[in-house]
Amino acid sequence: MESRTSMLVFLLLVATTSFCFAVNVTYDGRALVIDGKRRVLVSGSIHYPRSSPEMWPDLIKKSKEGGLDIIETYVFWNLHERERGTYDFSGSANLPKFIKLVGEAGMYVHLRIGPYVCAEWNYGGFPLWLHARPAMEFRTDNEQFKAEVERFVAKIVQTLNGHKLFASQGGPIILAQIENEYGNVEKDYGPRAKTYIDWAAKMATSMDVKVPWVMCQQNNAPDPMINTCNGFYCDEFTPNTNKKPKIFTELWSGWFSSWGDPVPYRPAEDVAFSAARFYQLNGTLVNYYMYHGGTNFGHTSGGPFITTSYDYDAPIDEYGLLRQPKWGHLKDLHKAIKLSEAAMVATFGKTTSIGKNLEATVYETGSGLCAAFLANLDNQSDATVKFRGNSYDLPAWSVSILPDCKNVVYNTAKVNSIMTTTNFIRQPSINGTTATLSNWSWFKEPVGLSRNTSFMLYGLAEQINNTADRSDYLWYSYSTHLAPNDPMLKVGSHVKLHVDSRGHALYAFVNGKLVGSGKGRVSSNNFSIEVPVTFQPGNNTIDLLSMTVGLKNYGAFFDTAGAGINGAFLKSLALANGTKDLNNNFLQEWNYQIGVKGDEEDLSSGSSNLWVSKPVLPKNTVLTWYKTTFSAPPGNSPVAIDFTGMGKGEAWVNGDSIGRYWTSNVADSNASCVNSCDYRGQFGQGKCLKNCGKPTQQYYHVPHSWLDPTGNDLVVLEEIGGDPTKISIVTREIERICSVVSETHPLPLDMPTANHLTRKIKPTLTLECPSPKQVISEIHFVDFGTPLGTLAQENQDAVLKFQWRIWVTLVQMLQRV
Ligand SMILES: *[C@@H]1O[C@H](CO)[C@@H](O)[C@H](O)[C@H]1NC(C)=O
Ligand SMILES: *[C@@H]1O[C@H](CO)[C@@H](O)[C@H](O)[C@H]1NC(C)=O
Ligand SMILES: *[C@@H]1O[C@H](CO)[C@@H](O)[C@H](O)[C@H]1NC(C)=O
Ligand SMILES: *[C@@H]1O[C@H](CO)[C@@H](O)[C@H](O)[C@H]1NC(C)=O
Ligand SMILES: *[C@@H]1O[C@H](CO)[C@@H](O)[C@H](O)[C@H]1NC(C)=O
Ligand SMILES: *[C@@H]1O[C@H](CO)[C@@H](O)[C@H](O)[C@H]1NC(C)=O
Ligand SMILES: *[C@@H]1O[C@H](CO)[C@@H](O)[C@H](O)[C@H]1NC(C)=O
Ligand SMILES: *[C@@H]1O[C@H](CO)[C@@H](O)[C@H](O)[C@H]1NC(C)=O
Ligand SMILES: *[C@@H]1O[C@H](CO)[C@@H](O)[C@H](O)[C@H]1NC(C)=O
Ligand SMILES: *[C@@H]1O[C@H](CO)[C@@H](O)[C@H](O)[C@H]1NC(C)=O
Ligand SMILES: *[C@@H]1O[C@H](CO)[C@@H](O)[C@H](O)[C@H]1NC(C)=O
Repeated sequence: MESRTSMLVFLLLVATTSFCFAVNVTYDGRALVIDGKRRVLVSGSIHYPRSSPEMWPDLIKKSKEGGLDIIETYVFWNLHERERGTYDFSGSANLPKFIKLVGEAGMYVHLRIGPYVCAEWNYGGFPLWLHARPAMEFRTDNEQFKAEVERFVAKIVQTLNGHKLFASQGGPIILAQIENEYGNVEKDYGPRAKTYIDWAAKMATSMDVKVPWVMCQQNNAPDPMINTCNGFYCDEFTPNTNKKPKIFTELWSGWFSSWGDPVPYRPAEDVAFSAARFYQLNGTLVNYYMYHGGTNFGHTSGGPFITTSYDYDAPIDEYGLLRQPKWGHLKDLHKAIKLSEAAMVATFGKTTSIGKNLEATVYETGSGLCAAFLANLDNQSDATVKFRGNSYDLPAWSVSILPDCKNVVYNTAKVNSIMTTTNFIRQPSINGTTATLSNWSWFKEPVGLSRNTSFMLYGLAEQINNTADRSDYLWYSYSTHLAPNDPMLKVGSHVKLHVDSRGHALYAFVNGKLVGSGKGRVSSNNFSIEVPVTFQPGNNTIDLLSMTVGLKNYGAFFDTAGAGINGAFLKSLALANGTKDLNNNFLQEWNYQIGVKGDEEDLSSGSSNLWVSKPVLPKNTVLTWYKTTFSAPPGNSPVAIDFTGMGKGEAWVNGDSIGRYWTSNVADSNASCVNSCDYRGQFGQGKCLKNCGKPTQQYYHVPHSWLDPTGNDLVVLEEIGGDPTKISIVTREIERICSVVSETHPLPLDMPTANHLTRKIKPTLTLECPSPKQVISEIHFVDFGTPLGTLAQENQDAVLKFQWRIWVTLVQMLQRV
């Protein structure tokens, strides 16, 4: 007993001081080598600006508990250097603080500096000012571009060096990345692509980081850059020399969602299968992209058309709650991998076929270390395989892990983690009736030009070059004087307005009245509208409000894709040629305004004397600002706003933008949504979809730390028309917990290693309420098969324990108190 206690104290000391000393990180053909030791590592992506700093410690803790060794993040250039030469590392841009917290949790960091990050992040992370610099060409061997990139990378490295955050300084950063998935687009950049990549590698290695660098999706990465793989599966990948370890920098745990499309998800069994296959076939580092996806606050979402939610169906959900069973199932996988680590780092795997679509891989040394992986690659047929004299059940599309080459401790298709369902609960609920937000005040945004900063150009201008993304909005305004005898005024002239747009969305007004609207979608950003219009004698004005919805972040030359209106015509048989082009560059005057009146008046902050509250709250009217105040829901549950009843716009809480909302953008009801998707077989982002016929996103996250107990300002700019009285404040709650344990349940991973490989132990299941405020209200379903165990409700408040032999299903309804 005595000696055990001191051992524990010693271990704790080691754990808490692990990052005070320099750590030497290198690599060989097998693995990353940390202080001379090869490691099998598990990593997950968490992007610091996609949550609040107050959420970081909990996200990191849940990552550590989930079995991660490393947290991976991009560095977002346009977050840190909004104006050229002015750097911001405050608030959710406090990268040094984020890295320190990861280090304090005893974890490592993989820093992907980019500076191109893709990430479904606005403009792929590039600041817009970069686009405006003379003779600038992005992501190629261009002197201006290279100079700016080098300056930014040096700034980041210098800043983090100053905080001693690299492993060689005793910090947690063990790996760095330069560029990002350039190999995917390289051929479009011609011969200057390779010289650019070689330059990027040289520039990176010249930086004082003393940790290995990776280039993902870059098969021609020059030494010493480690080329790595991103995808749904990367088991077939091999690095470009046998001196580099096999690393999976992005195992897509789900997929992002786009406005107007159904929401993708990926079954836990298949994520686990992909990771296990990678470790089976010589892989030694898997990073889940994303482990926590989070939220695209403000205008940070890219795309175009990436939603404000960046949940990604990740193991930790957008709100910071564990997504079960995904989180737990992967945690179990990580334990199984760690039990196999000693054998795995000692040697390469030997893979042999043990039947059709069946593979066994053995990591075995002469000194008695042995770990094995058995895979069934068939997408239909379960199998029973013989391996070293024993017989094993192997479900279709699964991998079993045998850390001692005998006992299966984990199979990717057998989920033994608890499952939860979460829901949004309306707040506050007073005496059984749902309180709605009331006491709205409002301001009607003028249609067309209203600011003294408007300007005239001949013809239709590209949008992004003009707005430089200072606003989503660009007004295009055209006036024409019609004499009383103009043919377009004749009865039966059937005049139509035709507008072409490169993207992303548009409202068309004639003489102040909405006549039509249009929007693109992620699969085709551009669109056209053609709507009947009526003119009047004298002055007529066509006002087109063109909107960007997140700037493009992917593809060759994505930075020059452009947006806004590129065609405008009047069509009528009364016209000489049947059509009149309003885009003749040298003749047609168009007037422009960047942004809207409310920006100028700082309405989003809540404070302005333009707000009115009489006589009657306008509903379903275009371009209307609304404001109210609300109290924070009691408790610590994550908070969201339900924008049911609203169309499209943006919302601010206490002056900070929670992002764009677009509740009226509904996913196609004909898309192939499936409630329960078969994990077996090749996954793709279109395979498992939900929300068909529903808004792509209805709920919008408000971080708890943004809220005061009472008197929080909510400001909404509604573009197309909505009813703000339908908006409600909700909290995200875990409603049900459920667990299934099968007869063929692998041995429990929680047991001490020595025991569990040699003894048969009855599995024990513990279900706990996620919050101390919850009680178990109902045991929804229990099935013991032929029970040998006992059922004991030990603690009404929190815990139910079961022991069983066959299988048990439990669903518990939890009620709020
Ligand atoms: C780091 O480790 C590598 C090999 O593992 C070794 O060659 C090198 O000398 C070490 N560097 C330091 C500073 O200890
Ligand atoms: C694993 O690495 C060893 C040694 O390079 C090689 O012989 C073997 O084919 C590799 N296995 C796979 C599946 O690539
Ligand atoms: C709720 O109901 C109780 C009892 O009927 C009443 O005293 C209380 O004022 C009600 N609260 C609200 C906010 O309506
Ligand atoms: C309603 O809103 C107005 C303007 O924001 C404010 O002055 C007033 O106190 C509010 N009334 C109530 C009952 O909250
Ligand atoms: C334009 O309007 C702004 C805000 O109303 C005002 O501060 C500014 O002085 C005006 N500028 C000119 C040139 O009129
Ligand atoms: C969008 O652009 C594509 C490619 O340039 C073109 O083929 C298509 O016709 C355009 N669609 C609309 C609606 O303008
Ligand atoms: C027509 O109306 C627009 C917008 O109200 C205005 O800017 C323009 O000066 C007017 N033109 C004439 C000829 O009245
Ligand atoms: C934007 O401006 C740049 C020059 O500053 C020009 O090269 C580019 O073609 C413009 N983009 C579009 C889409 O017009
Ligand atoms: C009609 O079309 C012809 C040929 O495109 C053009 O030369 C002429 O200017 C057009 N007339 C009008 C009134 O737009
Ligand atoms: C769904 O398909 C039907 C039949 O093909 C079609 O009539 C309908 O417009 C489609 N609905 C949507 C929302 O695309
Ligand atoms: C299952 O495997 C077969 C044969 O390899 C293949 O043709 C089929 O497309 C696969 N189905 C799925 C859903 O992956």
